[in-house]
Amino acid sequence: MKIKKAVFPVAGLGTRFIPATKAMAKEMLPVVDKPLIQYAVEEAFDAGIEQIIFVTGRGKKALEDHFDRCFEVELTLKNKGKEELLEQIQELVPKTGTIVYTRQNEPLGLGHAIWCARDIVGDEPFAVLLADDLIQTGRPVLAEMVKKFDRFRASIAAVMEVDKDQTDKYGILDASQLENNIFRINDMVEKPNPEEAPSNLAIIGRYILTPNIFKHLGKKEKGAGGEIQLTDAMKSLLKEQPIFGYKFEGTRFDCGDKAGFQMANLAFALERPDLRDKLIRFIREIQKDF
Ligand code: G1P
Repeated sequence: MKIKKAVFPVAGLGTRFIPATKAMAKEMLPVVDKPLIQYAVEEAFDAGIEQIIFVTGRGKKALEDHFDRCFEVELTLKNKGKEELLEQIQELVPKTGTIVYTRQNEPLGLGHAIWCARDIVGDEPFAVLLADDLIQTGRPVLAEMVKKFDRFRASIAAVMEVDKDQTDKYGILDASQLENNIFRINDMVEKPNPEEAPSNLAIIGRYILTPNIFKHLGKKEKGAGGEIQLTDAMKSLLKEQPIFGYKFEGTRFDCGDKAGFQMANLAFALERPDLRDKLIRFIREIQKDF
C-alpha cells in the first residue's frame, strides 16, 4: 500500500523563540530564505506524498497563506519581470484540495496532535514529519523510509545516535541492529534520564505509522511532561506489530533550539553558491576572535 498522506503537527506555540514567535508561527521561521515548514512539505512531496494534513492551532494563519496563492505578490513580480521568483512562489502552492487543515484545540502533546488527524488519515499507513527536525542530506529521509516501508510493511521511525547526556530530549530506543542502517525496535521510552536510558539511539521527527497507532493514541494516556506521547503509543503498538528504526544519512539540526537553528542557517547558507564565499570570508574574519 502506498504512503499517500503526511501529518504535520504544527500547533506548538514556539515559546523558545519568543519574541520572534509571539505573533508568528514558529514553523514560518526561515532557514536562509525558506520557512521550516516548506522544507518538510517539500520532503514529503519528494517522497510521493499526495495529501498534506496540518494539525494547527490558533495564530497559524500565516501557514495557510504560505501554501496558498497570493495574486498581489504574483502580479507585482510579473509586472517587474521577476519570472524566476514568480515561478518559485507559484510552485510552492500544492494542487488545489491536497492540503487539509484540522485543529488541535488543546495542547495535550505530540501524540494527541497526531490523534487529531485520525479521521482524515483513515485506515491506511501514513507519514508524520516534525518540521523542527531539519535534515541536510543527499538522500531525503522520508523517501528512503517509504522504500523501507515497501520492504518491511511495518511502522518505521527515523533514528540517530545522540550524546548520552541528551537522552532526556528524545524518544530513546532499545533496539537490535538488523543491517547497517536498520534496527528492530524492542522497546522505547520518552525522554529518559541518561542513567535510565536503554541506549543513545534516539527517534528523530520522521515516522511512517500503520493506522493501528490511532487505537493506542486514543487511550490518551499521559506520559513524560504530563503529555500524550507518540512514543508511548508506539511502545504499546509494539505489542501487536513490529516497528523498525531507520538510521538516516546526513546532518540533523534541531531547529526548535536556538543554537541548532543558527547552525542550520549557516549550514544551508554555505550550500548556496550565492552566499557561500561571503560567509566563508566572514567566518574566517570573526574566528580570529574566538
Ligand atoms: C518529539 C518526540 C520525541 C522525538 C523528538 C525528535 O519530542 O516526542 O520522541 O525524539 O520529537 O525531535 P519534542 O522535540 O517534540 O519534545
